[in-house]
Amino acid sequence: MRLQGGGVDLSILQRPRRLRRSENLRRLVRETRLHTSDLIWPLFVHARDSDEPVPSMPGVSRHGLDSLLGACEEAQRLGIPAVAVFPCIEASLKNAEGSHAHEESNLLYRSVREIKKRFPELLVITDVALDPYTSHGHDGLLSPNGDSVENDTTVEALCRLAVHEAAAGADIVAPSDMMDGRVGEIRRALDVAGFQETAIMSYAAKYSSAYYGPFRDAVGSKIGQDSIGKATYQMDPANASEAVREVLLDVEQGADIVMVKPAGPYLDIICKVRDAVTTPLAAYQVSGEYAQIHAAAQLGWLDYERTRDESLLAIKRAGADMILTYFAPEVAARLRH
Ligand code: PBG
Repeated sequence: MRLQGGGVDLSILQRPRRLRRSENLRRLVRETRLHTSDLIWPLFVHARDSDEPVPSMPGVSRHGLDSLLGACEEAQRLGIPAVAVFPCIEASLKNAEGSHAHEESNLLYRSVREIKKRFPELLVITDVALDPYTSHGHDGLLSPNGDSVENDTTVEALCRLAVHEAAAGADIVAPSDMMDGRVGEIRRALDVAGFQETAIMSYAAKYSSAYYGPFRDAVGSKIGQDSIGKATYQMDPANASEAVREVLLDVEQGADIVMVKPAGPYLDIICKVRDAVTTPLAAYQVSGEYAQIHAAAQLGWLDYERTRDESLLAIKRAGADMILTYFAPEVAARLRH
């Protein structure tokens, strides 16, 4: 230590704090910025006319069709490039095979057709998975004795589902089921049906996560206590190298965009995947991440806006090119000013 008069140590040459002195200096050296163009807004639609708030997701509702279109108009006005539409199907239309998924008249296809008719520029993303339609809540078909979710018969059903979605006008289909080999099969099915331009955003590294709880409340896809778990197809939260392997498989099979999900608790995975592939990378800030921030803010334990913004910036910094987030409209509104 060589303190001079005035308390200055002349041996300290590197002083990173120099560039943190003012907001303008910090702006000049800022490495990561969130843009409205990074955002994808997940929306829930149900068959009723009125909206129904989702209690575990403050500010989020199951929309009636008119109000869904209103949300899409808002997305367009705010400059949000894409919405992801999730249908909440009435219990009476669900069965073990999820056969309602294959009916033209179903709520998802009707909604997508309406959105594309009114807002042709707005990108529409649809999940390719059977969980909104199955009575057991699984993303796929059960084996005859009910003790597993069958891979290959599920993939066949998913291919049909993806083609229905593309035919309804979805710009991007997003297999969220984690069956093996589904991306390649879906790509072929889309191409054969003439949908070469429909992109695939694969939920490539999707973990078997407790953070999906509020989403399952929202769409009514809770799986029974005695049922086999989604851990038989979604990834083990303990694994990281396996995520890279899953992503590489999906890229090989033709995924246009790959996704890591959840996002915030899996920043290391986003970072690893970013280093492994050049494919555009999406991250899904899931329902539980959103609920957590709201709950802590309601208790007065966290500053809502700062925590929200920091959570999204961290996901971007880890390497995501785009983020599915329920915060999309309010963040887009803030980014405008
Ligand atoms: C369904 C699906 C899930 C989510 C998106 N698509 C839930 C699940 O796999 O059980 C979760 C999204 C969220 O929690 O916000 N395949």
